[in-house]
Amino acid sequence: REMYQEIDLDKIDIHAEPPIEEPARQYYFMAKCRKWVKGFEQKHGRLPKSCVVNMGCQMNARDSEKLTGILRKIGYCQSDSEEADFVIYNTCTVRENANNKVYGRLGYLNGMQKKNPDMLIGLCGCMMQEPSVVEKIKESYSFVNLIFGTHNLFQFAELLFCAMEKHSSAQKKKADMTIEIWEDTDQIVENLPNKRKYFFKSGVNIMFGCNNFCSYCIVPYVRGRERSRRPEEILREIEALAADGVVEVMLLGQNVNSYGKNLETPMTFAQLLREAENIDGIERIRFMTSHPKDLSDELIETMKQSKKICRHLHLPLQSGSSKILKKMNRNYTKEQYLALVEKLRNAIPDIAVTTDIIVGFPGETEEDFEETMDVVRKVQYDSAFTFIYSKRTGTPAASMEDQIPEELVKKRFDRLLKEVQQIASAKAGRYTGSVQKVLIEQVNEQDAHLVTGRMSNNSIVHLPGTKERIGTIADVRLTECRGFYYLGEVVG
Ligand code: 5AD
Ligand code: SF4
Repeated sequence: REMYQEIDLDKIDIHAEPPIEEPARQYYFMAKCRKWVKGFEQKHGRLPKSCVVNMGCQMNARDSEKLTGILRKIGYCQSDSEEADFVIYNTCTVRENANNKVYGRLGYLNGMQKKNPDMLIGLCGCMMQEPSVVEKIKESYSFVNLIFGTHNLFQFAELLFCAMEKHSSAQKKKADMTIEIWEDTDQIVENLPNKRKYFFKSGVNIMFGCNNFCSYCIVPYVRGRERSRRPEEILREIEALAADGVVEVMLLGQNVNSYGKNLETPMTFAQLLREAENIDGIERIRFMTSHPKDLSDELIETMKQSKKICRHLHLPLQSGSSKILKKMNRNYTKEQYLALVEKLRNAIPDIAVTTDIIVGFPGETEEDFEETMDVVRKVQYDSAFTFIYSKRTGTPAASMEDQIPEELVKKRFDRLLKEVQQIASAKAGRYTGSVQKVLIEQVNEQDAHLVTGRMSNNSIVHLPGTKERIGTIADVRLTECRGFYYLGEVVG
């Protein structure tokens, strides 16, 4: 099975009929793309450059690694700059402003394509699952060569080849955009290439989609129904990652706590974690995201017992008002959320808790907002992502009455942000003086004599060091806290 990723594309007979089954079909099209890339090389005297731009969450980032893996396999070199021969935006659509950003940048890409007529432009990700978006792109951005959605990302090689062929045959007219978008799927295609951004850590998809339908959220509409990957596939992937030098994995799903419910042989997320824990070479396990309504005692106990599961839980609150939570369809009350955090902290006292909060949901009164502030003060989050409510067409909240005026929301948002930051910075220093395990992740962006890493609880630490240390876990004495991060030095 792993053999697939090692396949020599030059050995595939590209004049035969394309295979029907996956992933063989995609490897066949990768071989075809590779031939096109060689043609490009002959014409230009260099290999084509590709640039995958990730605009979304960790799921998106992992999808981008899959795209990059395929591009690499077919012979593109990678570039961080959009001055490339193939640029693809992996989009997000959770909030409206994410969409607007894409339209803005497309204008800029159009300019680049005029200078480089062999440049291909692609769009994929959550935003492409919205029919109105695709209509608008066909209408106003007809220079785009390729569009696909979240459910058929695995077809990238096949679709890219289609776009390449159209381009080569110089028929590029308005109607020649390659577009393939599925509404939903229960298919999960395994064993495609991927290229990790970091050699020592990796995301691992454990499930796709979401069934929760929080009333503000577009994700269930663009990512489809919840489906879990089979545990054998997940564990095999983690083993292969460990064998390849990965020490930290982040298990990814929209709601990891409901993992395994729809498997042939159901299993819980906690069971999966315990299996992952047994894999040698993996030192740290993280996961994202946990819905409070599904966080089980079994999971808390598993985290408590574990040597590898990191001391961090991201537990989206969204609102502190039980009335708003009900309208959001979150299925928990303020009191239940607070009780859950208390239970968690009783079991694992040093755990860092972070959250997501939405301000200005329809019908949010001053009292409701104060309830949110109250939870923030009571929980004392280590950090919190705060969002202004964004109306997403097609979600139930979009047609609710009492949408809140923007100026009012902005005021509340600023108050919340200030509170969240004050609490986070007051909490940040509590480990100063202690020695902590830090996974060194990169050379410091400002100072080349420093490296930057993370503690188990996700706190950031800067310390003297060089790039040789990247990917190692060091014992670090935290000498000072500055705002939200620590300075430290390696001990021993
Ligand atoms: N408006 C604002 N924030 C949203 N989120 C999801 N949908 C919306 C929306 N319509 C936030 C939630 C979620 C995070 C990923 O994005 O807080 O947890
Ligand atoms: Fe959206 Fe709620 Fe699903 Fe998270 S759990 S992706 S907020 S619907």
